[in-house]
Formats: sequence, C-alpha cells, structure tokens
Amino acid sequence: MERIRIVGGRPLEGTVRISGAKNASLPDVCAALLTDGQVVLHNVPEVRDIRTMGRVLADLGAAVDFRVGGTVAIQAGRITSVEATYDLVKTMRASVLVLGPLVARAGRARVSLPGGCAIGARPIDLHLRALEKMGAKIHVESGYVEARAERLRGAEVAFDMVTVTGTENVMMAASLAEGETVIRKAAQEPEIEDLAALLVAMGAKIEGAGSPTIRIRGVEKLGGAEHTVIPDRIETGTFIGACAVAGGDIEVRNCQPAHLRPVIEKLRETGIRIEEGPNNMRVRAPRTLRASDVTTEPHPGFPTDMQAQYMALMTQAAGTSTITETIFENRYMHVGELQRMGANIRVDGRKAVVTGHTPLSGAQVMATDLRASACLLLAALAARGETIVDRIYHLDRGYYRIDEKLRGIGADIERVGQGGRRATDAVVSAEPTA
Ligand code: UD1
Repeated sequence: MERIRIVGGRPLEGTVRISGAKNASLPDVCAALLTDGQVVLHNVPEVRDIRTMGRVLADLGAAVDFRVGGTVAIQAGRITSVEATYDLVKTMRASVLVLGPLVARAGRARVSLPGGCAIGARPIDLHLRALEKMGAKIHVESGYVEARAERLRGAEVAFDMVTVTGTENVMMAASLAEGETVIRKAAQEPEIEDLAALLVAMGAKIEGAGSPTIRIRGVEKLGGAEHTVIPDRIETGTFIGACAVAGGDIEVRNCQPAHLRPVIEKLRETGIRIEEGPNNMRVRAPRTLRASDVTTEPHPGFPTDMQAQYMALMTQAAGTSTITETIFENRYMHVGELQRMGANIRVDGRKAVVTGHTPLSGAQVMATDLRASACLLLAALAARGETIVDRIYHLDRGYYRIDEKLRGIGADIERVGQGGRRATDAVVSAEPTA
C-alpha cells in the first residue's frame, strides 16, 4: 500500500495548474446516459472516482474512452443493463447519479443503496422522493433501489434540504421527462451550472441553474455534445491552504476565482494575500495567520469540502477559532490525527474549537476520507520533521497527482511503498477505494 512522506518547513514557490472538477465530471459523465449520441468531455481529472464512474457506465453498456490529456468520450448507443451493483456503488456514493438518467432513458434502474459512509449516514431519500413525484415507482429490496417509469412526468420538486447530487439527478431525469419540472431549494453549486451547460448543449431546456429555483422543460430526445468541465474549486482552495501553512508565494493557474468567493473571503480574513486574475490567482502567505471562525453551508456558503483543510490552517493561526460543520454529522475524523501531530482541538458535537499556533511535529498518520487526507498533507507541510500519511488511496480518489504538484512548487514530498522505498509516479493504482 502506498503512502506519502512529507518533510515540513519548506516554503512553496512557483506555479501550479488546477485540474478539472471531479464533482462536475461525475454528473457530466452520467449525463451521457441520456443520449445515444457521443458526449465528449474535456478537462476531466484522471482521478480514481472518475475511473470508477467509467466502470459503472461500461457495465450499463456505454463505450467509455479515456483519452490522454483529460478527454473522455462516452457513447451509450444502447443501454444493455440497468443495474449499478453493490461492488461499485459501495466504493463511491456518487454512483447514485446513474439513477435519474437510467429511469429517464431506459424506463428502469436498479441501483445498490450506497450504505454507510465514512462522513455520516448520507441517505438518498430525497433523490427517491423526487423521482416518485415525477411518476417513478420506487421499490427498495435486498439493498437495491428499483425504479420504473414508462415515461417520467414533469413535477414540482421542493427539496427539504439542499442536496447536490439529488438536484443533479432530478435535472437529468427531468430533461427527458414529459412536461415541466420545477426544482425548489435546488443546490446552487458551480457544478450544477456546469451540468446544466452540458445538458443544454445536448438539447435540454433548462433555466435558473445556479439559483434556488431551476426550471426544466422535458424534451423527447437529447443528442451528443462536447463540453469542457470547470476547474476544481476544492483543489484550488487546497493549494491556497498549502501555501498559507507552508509559507511562500505561488501562482494558481487554470482556476475560476468566482467559484471560490466564500473561500477567498474567509482566507483573506486569516491574512492570506490573494490577487485574482480572470482564471488565475497569486497567493502569498502571511507571516502569521489569524484565527477566524467558519461555518460550513451549501453554496454560496463556505464548502464542507474545505472544512478539514481550513482546520489545518487554524492549527497554525494566532488565536482561537470555532469551526462549525452543518452539512455532515461525522466529518471530524481528521481531528484525532491532527492532535497526534500536536494540534490543540476540542470537538463538541458539530463544533470544533481550535486553539492555534501550536507547533506541529511530523508523525505517522492515517487518511480517513478524501478531504481529511488533504488536511493531513497541509498539516505535514507546516510540521517539523517527517510525516508519513497512510491510506492515501483516499487522496487519489479526488486529487490528480497532488504529490507531484506540491513537489513542483517546492514541497519535500514523495510517494513511497510500504517498505519506505520510493514508489512509481503512477497514481492510478489498484487499491480499494472504499
Ligand atoms: C456532494 C459532493 C460532496 C459534498 C457534498 C456537500 C459530489 C459528487 N459530492 O455530495 O463532495 O461534500 O455535496 O456539498 O458532488 N441528504 C439526505 N438525503 C438525501 C440526500 C442528502 O438526508 O437524499 C443529506 C446528506 O446526508 C447530507 C446533506 O443532505 O447531510 C447534503 O448532502 P448532499 O448535498 O446530497 O451531498 P452529496 O450530493 O452526496
């Protein structure tokens, strides 16, 4: 099993290029199920979750062609199976994104329930209720959701709480439904707008994506399209955080500052200097970070996917900060590992109080989920001595060659095999993703 070894204390300098957004690519890949035409996506990050989604689609009969340079061509000429099996869904909850497209196109879907997840229960009840509202007959048995509908009908879907993949599932299903669907309390994340842009290019009629109310007029048929995925805003935020804890001055290229408004504002409060260009940023670390409270919220609030990285920053900030996680109930698994490195953090339910400016020392730590792994890398960059991060397959699910990118801007970081020897740079390896 591969690990990452980091020696902290080196300031970062140079330029880093951001990859395409994983969380936009996942629904975009699934949207290809809605048509027999070819969908060509550019700027897709070659991370493990995308490969897993490629396997899910291939199982359904789609031809999925990963080309060099982040282009993926998908053609679902015929749907030969409507089943997403437990083996794949258990490794990646986002597999549930095939549900809406399958029912809409094939009239039937059988998708394994995602089950427990490391960062909380994460049910899919909202997805199911919405599809029922659109006329699907839903049946849950033996751990699988079975949904059927001759043709879905447009409906008024008012979500009780904001759900990103739930909104995406309904957008895709509604694009081929009969009549108009109105989604209320829709997720407003940039990834929703990205999916809408792709669907519109395929012939869908969608208005309001990016606002709390989305209107979709169903069409009979969608066609192929070519689309470039937006840059990954969480990867961007992670690199800003890396520069802030390690010290230094970096340029972040191929990003979309407008998608990071709440993150940039919060990070500026901590003293980080961020100069925005149209699709790049210059980031300069302050001499000392300042503590600042944060509460995670759906977009346009501070993203839960940046909470763990922000906590690593706060361990190095002067003062005490309170971090409140409102989206997921169990997303503080990085705390124990940060404490082992010397951080002073107290968790009380959904709140974590970080007493900052404690020196961190390198240690052997274990990644528990995707963003927790990024948090540990950041802590390691700030720490004295050597840190070994174990279970980095979590990191490879969502970050494209983050070790190489960090090394490119001066970090002392390398991927090593179990025995401490340097591993190859091939990031997509054959380890489990759960
Ligand atoms: C997406 C992102 C994930 C991010 C999260 C919140 C993708 C592939 N993943 O996940 O990185 O952390 O948004 O920004 O885009 N909920 C229910 N019932 C449902 C659906 C959700 O109770 O049917 C709850 C969840 O348990 C959670 C909250 O709603 O507490 C938000 O979840 P949701 O927005 O659905 O997250 P995902 O779409 O899974």
